[in-house]
Formats: sequence, C-alpha cells, structure tokens
Amino acid sequence: MINRKILEITPYQPGKPIEEVKRQLGLKEVIKLASNENPLGPSPKAVLAIKKSLTKINRYPEGSCFYLRQRLSKKLKVRPENLIFGNGSDELIDIVIKAFCEPDDEIITADTTFLEYRIIALQNGRAVRCIPLKDFRYDLARIKDRIGPKTKAIFIANPNNPTGTYVTKREVDDFLNGLPENVVAIFDQAYLEFVENKDFPLSLNYFRQGKNVIILRTFSKIYGLAGLRIGYGIAREEFIQYMERARQPFNVNTLAQEAALAALDDTVFIRKAQRAVREGKKYLYGELDRLKINYIPSAANFILIDLKRDGLKIFNKLLKEGVIVRDMQQYGLNNFIRVTIGREKENKKFVAALKKVLS
Ligand SMILES: Cc1ncc(COP(=O)(O)O)c(C=O)c1O
Repeated sequence: MINRKILEITPYQPGKPIEEVKRQLGLKEVIKLASNENPLGPSPKAVLAIKKSLTKINRYPEGSCFYLRQRLSKKLKVRPENLIFGNGSDELIDIVIKAFCEPDDEIITADTTFLEYRIIALQNGRAVRCIPLKDFRYDLARIKDRIGPKTKAIFIANPNNPTGTYVTKREVDDFLNGLPENVVAIFDQAYLEFVENKDFPLSLNYFRQGKNVIILRTFSKIYGLAGLRIGYGIAREEFIQYMERARQPFNVNTLAQEAALAALDDTVFIRKAQRAVREGKKYLYGELDRLKINYIPSAANFILIDLKRDGLKIFNKLLKEGVIVRDMQQYGLNNFIRVTIGREKENKKFVAALKKVLS
C-alpha cells in the first residue's frame, strides 16, 4: 500500500527537546545546544507584538502576509511581488520542489548538508543526487559538472549546515555563469546574519541580475522565532507566482507574522545575538584548541567538532551531564558532534562536560 518513495525516507531526527531529556534522565538542569537556535530567546519586541495580537487568533491569518511583505520589501529593496512566506523555510523547500520539479526531474545537493532537501524531495517522489563535499565545503564545480538533462533544481546551503562552511562570491559567480537556463539554484541562507567573512557572496545581487536563483531565509535563527515557524523566499516575480500556486492559503500563522514584523526592526536584539555568537565562538575555539580537539571553522552559529572517536557515545554521555548537542550519525559523520553556540554560561557548561566525558 505504501508509496515506494516513502520507504526510502529515514525520518528527520531533530535535536532533542529539553523537557524530554529532563523527563527521560531525571535531570533538573538541561541546556540545549542542538538546533542552532538563538540562545538569547526571542526578540522582546516580538514577544510584545504576540501578546498584543493574541485576541486576533479566532480569525484566519492574512494569507499574503501583507504588512510583513511591505516592511521586508522596503528593508531588502525588492518589490513586494518578489517575496513569498512559508511555515519556516522548510516549507519553502517543499514549495520550490512542488512548483519546479516534475516526477522525472532530478534535484542536486551536497551529500553532507541540511537533510531536509533530500527528505522533502523524496516525500514529493523526486530523485535526488548528492555530491560529496570537498574539504567540508560544497564542491560547486563538481555539482555543475554533474548537471544532466533531467536536472531542475540545485539546493545550496550557504553557510552549510552541519559544517558551518560557505562558498565564496567567486565560486558562486563561476557556478552561475553558464548554468543551463532550465535549472534553478536555491541558496538557503538560514545563517546569513551570522556571517562576517568578506568573500561571502551577496546573493541578492544574483537575483537582481535576473539569474535563475531563489534565496531562502528564516526567522528561526538570529530572530529567535524557531517555535513560530516563519521563513521567506526572494525570487523574480514569475517564479514567485508559480510558487504561490503550491502554497497552502493560511500557511503562516497570525502570531508568526506579527512577531516577525516586530523582530525585523529590533536591531538592538540582533546586534546582541551577533555579538553573543562572535564571542561564544571565540571562547569555544580557544577551549577546543587548548584541548587539542579539531573543529571546522564556522561562519554560522554552530561548530562541527571532530572528536576522532564515536560521536554518538560522547553525545549520550553529554546528555547525562545535562548538555544536549547533536550527534552526526544521520549525516554519516560518526566521529563528530555539532554544538550550537549558546550563552556564556551554557558554553562553559558544555566545555566542562566535554572535558569530563573525554577524560
Ligand atoms: C540550512 C538550513 N535551512 C533551513 C533550516 C530550516 O529553518 P526553518 O526553521 O526556517 O524551517 C535549517 C534549520 O536548521 C537549516 O539549517
């Protein structure tokens, strides 16, 4: 009875929730550094906006995200018609695949990247080709080489999750130059706001040049709204119109719209979150260096750590110390763990727990 494509899917295993770990291990204090969330909480302006709009939830949300669309279009200097909103950027991945890929079409991505590209493609019955990373980075030259007559969409997480690495402006320029006209490149920029590297590409420029690109962004990371589920896409109007056909009418809830609108303007909160990640990263790099533990330098708010021993075992031991990180079995990186940069106290707790379980 079951769709054969569904049989190929291993369900996505998210980071363990704090309450679940407390319940299962009988712990009182647990910290979560597992899902690249904002450890400072949501933007206070967003919380206030949600409180004010609570009485509106008897009504369906405004499907067009009107006010958020207007505000974001001004901020990004794009037209309102160039934007689409989703129930997290996860949903936009689904919408892109539904709008662009027919049953015979092929989707390309990396083999060690955000797992949802492959999972959502399979859920939609689409074939996926996964190209190995090179030195933990997307190998855009090899991906371009592998484009065939059936290739329709290419998903590129930049920065990449779980490695924290990124592809440079020059690499993306070369990649897009001469890309076949019937192929769309999707740049997933969930971690954009954490990037400080000078050679990181300004993806909006490729959109402005009229290239076949779709840019995906989210309110789940720097804006601290992961629990509300809201993300957006930027593309040329024609693409957006087709994607709108694959969108459910009330996909973004009222509270998410109000919170995102308020969070967009909370520059004080955003700067604070950026500073926390910058300082936390410096601290964690220093401690890992002292412990002589290898890690992949990250442009995002998490670090992929090479323990050179069974990562799942260390993950389980850290859980018992009340620290949730992410084991990397799903990604085939068995000797690694990924840790999200937390608040100062959380980073210290992680380092103390890591020292303890490694000794
Ligand atoms: C690269 C990447 N894209 C998209 C997402 C999903 O974000 P959202 O919460 O907007 O669905 C994540 C979440 O971890 C991610 O790492």
